Amino acid sequence: MEKMRENFPVTRTKTFLNHAAMSPVSKPVAGAMKKLIDEATCFDFSSEDWEDCGKPYFAQLINARTEEIARIENTSMGMNIAAHVIQAPRGAKIVTTDLEYPSVTYPFLRKSLGLNVHYVRNINGKILLEDMEKAVDDKTVAIAVSHVEYANGFRHDLRAVSEIAHRHGAYLIVDAIQAAGAISVDVKRDGVDFLASACYKWLMGPSGAGYLYVRKELIEKFEPPFVGWASVKPEVFETTDFWDIWKPQYSENASRFEAGSPSIISFAGARAAIKLLLDVGIDNIEKRILELTDYLINELQNAGFTLQTPEDRVCRGGIVNFKVENPQKMQEQLAEKGIMVTARASGIRVSPHFYNTKEEIDRLVEEAKKIEKQHR
Ligand SMILES: Cc1ncc(COP(=O)(O)O)c(C=O)c1O
Repeated sequence: MEKMRENFPVTRTKTFLNHAAMSPVSKPVAGAMKKLIDEATCFDFSSEDWEDCGKPYFAQLINARTEEIARIENTSMGMNIAAHVIQAPRGAKIVTTDLEYPSVTYPFLRKSLGLNVHYVRNINGKILLEDMEKAVDDKTVAIAVSHVEYANGFRHDLRAVSEIAHRHGAYLIVDAIQAAGAISVDVKRDGVDFLASACYKWLMGPSGAGYLYVRKELIEKFEPPFVGWASVKPEVFETTDFWDIWKPQYSENASRFEAGSPSIISFAGARAAIKLLLDVGIDNIEKRILELTDYLINELQNAGFTLQTPEDRVCRGGIVNFKVENPQKMQEQLAEKGIMVTARASGIRVSPHFYNTKEEIDRLVEEAKKIEKQHR
């Protein structure tokens, strides 16, 4: 662990427990981006560092095939592409939940689409499968949820949710930004149709890079909503002097959902970030995060705080939220002590990664106890 922590310079100056917000980058990630910047000065790129944009690594991380991955700039864009692509008829139903981030619901709420967006209400921070089941009917074209919810950290049983969706001929569209890199994500096991994630949270990459997974069988069914040179078959520009600007031949792969050039520096960083996590092993990472969050929950309860995250292990990922008197002030006072967390949903959201330690959790709980005493 000591050796691994050397890869994360943030550990020298901060108690960083805020991976659900924006993560610091590790040394290998910074190195990959610096190398590309240096190479750019002489136009002397080693294309293997960025050309595949890290798609094979992301595919491995979520148990998909590389052809099923498109590069995107952020999660919101991925969710928008999915929302457009499914071509839901006016009046069709989209089922989501009242725990979602705007990027999950807004793409379906555009007036021009004329969709009926139904919110399944949480019960004590959980979305019950029986409520989901009741909400989905044969007019439903998609269920859109976050794998792990941003404020309270509730983790959906995606497999059960996809079974409900598919029984009614609906798609499952997943925002995985609070899951990918923290817990095991398996699109094949769980029957996911679309999944989007940026890299700047649990994947510990830079902003500006992300991925959209589209299940192979669905790719060619859809016309991409935004198109450009990157949407067409590679043969088109590898074998011709001129682009065929009369009749686009869209790629058979998910790259048909890409339009133009990527931020290659961001993707060089993203690629190195995902490689680092794969080297540690996502199962090891999930195990470690759950060990740390179990410990955190226990310490918070011993200190008299009320938990806002479902306690049950299968219902959570890397996020733990506890209620406090003045969340914003608490966040600021903790930051003054170098402890990084976020005020969310009348509480403090803590999101440790695998390289954090129990000592860091102890520090947070000790300081939070003192601050809460002042506020009460
Ligand atoms: C669940 C969820 N989705 C989406 C986002 C934002 O995604 P992006 O900036 O990649 O569009 C966040 C950021 O907090 C989030 O928590």
